[in-house]
Amino acid sequence: MLVLGIESSCDETAAAVVHNGASLLSNVIASQIDVHSKYGGIVPEIASRKHIEAIVPVIIQALNDAGVSLGDIEGIAVTRGPGLVGSLLVGLSVAKSIAFAQGIPFVGVNHLEGHIAAIFLSEEKPDFPFIALVVSGGHTIVCLVQNFGDFSIIGQTRDDAAGEAFDKAAKMLDLGYPGGVVIDKLAKSGDTAYVQFPRSMKDSMDFSFSGLKTSLLNYIKKREDPITENEIPDIVASYQEAIVDVLIEKTLRAAENLSIKKVVVSGGVAANSRLRDGFYEKAKNKGIEVFIPPIIMCTDNAAMIAVVGDNLLRKGEKDHFDLNAISRWPLESWSVMKQV
Ligand code: KG4
Ligand code: ZN
Repeated sequence: MLVLGIESSCDETAAAVVHNGASLLSNVIASQIDVHSKYGGIVPEIASRKHIEAIVPVIIQALNDAGVSLGDIEGIAVTRGPGLVGSLLVGLSVAKSIAFAQGIPFVGVNHLEGHIAAIFLSEEKPDFPFIALVVSGGHTIVCLVQNFGDFSIIGQTRDDAAGEAFDKAAKMLDLGYPGGVVIDKLAKSGDTAYVQFPRSMKDSMDFSFSGLKTSLLNYIKKREDPITENEIPDIVASYQEAIVDVLIEKTLRAAENLSIKKVVVSGGVAANSRLRDGFYEKAKNKGIEVFIPPIIMCTDNAAMIAVVGDNLLRKGEKDHFDLNAISRWPLESWSVMKQV
């Protein structure tokens, strides 16, 4: 089955063509980073307008790159949530229009399930069940994945998401946006033990990153002499280490507690080099196999949405034209929310 995926939940307008939920024929991503970076974060109203401008050219490009025409597409998968409603509605409206005009089915997909499913486009694919860590700009979740659409949350953040912790730190230190990418690069030459940042909620499977953010703010404020440029790599390396440490430790703990030998790491923060290396290294000692998609499949893309869509369409699922976008859509209530 040839599925067209459409993603517009945040600041990336994306379209992809995927064959049988496993082989990627095209993957087009139009990023709005340049537009939002001068504001130090995403401006929702601007994001929606940029999606409107980009969505049709991005879809045409995805079809061209795949060497197929709209008539070859058998179903459409579109991100329904969670995300910015104005942004989601752009993708959803276009998906409905194409489905209506072509007389083909469309399905709304959970963006977080998409992040997890990105691993099925890799050469090395895990079997179910596995533990998944979803770490993005808006979410930090560890869950047990028994099948498509079958998730049990083991732990999640009580406040900021890990990606948010990166982005806010970069803003505080005036390093640019998106913070995760900048910090990842700068931290490579830094000393991870330069500042002792806290690792919170050690005894819980949940996460909290707002205390870490505050401790960076306090560190900056309490300094008698201003922070020098030379110190920045050391400070961000220490900060990054505090995030990476807890993400790896709790995810592997979840796997050990449930005797699950496979772990999938996904979402924008899974692009982080320290997190990737740390997972492979620490899991090896525990006999746990780690699966992380290539960087381009970790950050937002439409191919991951098409993979989930393929599975739903195969089961005969089909959404109606009155389907609405939803800004908050927890993974666990997937089956309930499908009725909304
Ligand atoms: O999954 P994603 O592209 O969008 C959301 O669904 O949120 O994730 C974006 C987040 C941002 O917070 C960004 O700073 C973070 O992923 N990110 C990274 C890296 N690349 C992107 N964080 C750490 N290291 C990176 N290399
Ligand atoms: Zn995402």
